[in-house]
Amino acid sequence: MPRPQRPRRTVLAVPGSSRRMLEKAPGLDVDAVFLDLEDAVAPDAKAGARDLVVAALHEGDWSGKAVTVRVNDATRPGAHRDVVEIVSRAGDRIDAIMLPKVEHIAHVHWIDVLLGQLEREHDLEPGRIGLELIIEGPRGLADVQRIAAASPRLDTLVYGPGDFTSAMRIPTLTVGDTSIGGHDPIDPVFSQLAVAARANDAQVIDGPYAGIHDFDGLRRAAEHTRAFGFDGKWVLHPAQIEVVNEVFTPDPAAVERAERILAAYAHHTSAAGGTRGAVLFEGEMIDEATHRMARTIAAAGHRAGL
Ligand code: GLV
Ligand code: MG
Repeated sequence: MPRPQRPRRTVLAVPGSSRRMLEKAPGLDVDAVFLDLEDAVAPDAKAGARDLVVAALHEGDWSGKAVTVRVNDATRPGAHRDVVEIVSRAGDRIDAIMLPKVEHIAHVHWIDVLLGQLEREHDLEPGRIGLELIIEGPRGLADVQRIAAASPRLDTLVYGPGDFTSAMRIPTLTVGDTSIGGHDPIDPVFSQLAVAARANDAQVIDGPYAGIHDFDGLRRAAEHTRAFGFDGKWVLHPAQIEVVNEVFTPDPAAVERAERILAAYAHHTSAAGGTRGAVLFEGEMIDEATHRMARTIAAAGHRAGL
């Protein structure tokens, strides 16, 4: 059974050590949030951040948002403690755990088993906690198909541009800048992630763009991954929300056209459910494949409330 997919057009990164951002985040117009215990938190603030995140999960009104906590990666000493503390104290308040720097299928098996144990211990519905896996290095990318298939908990695969470009020695200093020196070296990565996610009925999410006030750059990056079928993108600052929501909301004209195609196709469907095969519609040949494309766009429009 595929897991239910929550909209994740905008995914707000919230540093788990920032009381101010943890208080502000529930009121922002984003589909999803992740409360971060990893790279946005200084090493000596990590233990305290767990307590702040647990408190925020209980005290904030997060209704209407997909809520995730990013724990430290599986090779870090405190990673298991992050998972145990968050799920034991607030497992009923989160939709998923986000695991960064996933490099091996064993990382996924480890967290899948641990989550199962914690769900049993705390009387949570088995399998209720999903997984968001960040692919941000060459090893993870090389094994991404198996990683994506390794747990039925998978909600999203996420592209992590900062760590990925650094691991690959791609010469850029702006996290999330996909167009480097007139080339688009990340494009094959986007394709692989999108295929691996879709093959496992999961969503695929683009990571951050660091130029907070470079709205043209942000829009370019978001439109780029949208073209690969990505479902959404992180935002690091409230100023980025509007652009990303806009890019990942289906174009109303496209949704309307999809609805017209569905209506035209229904008209050509006989009472017995058969079709006449390809038919001409507004100057284009439409057939069963067009029908499926139209259903995909119309469904995205409905999810976005159009
Ligand atoms: C996100 O984790 C990144 O590395 O860009
Ligand atoms: Mg990273």
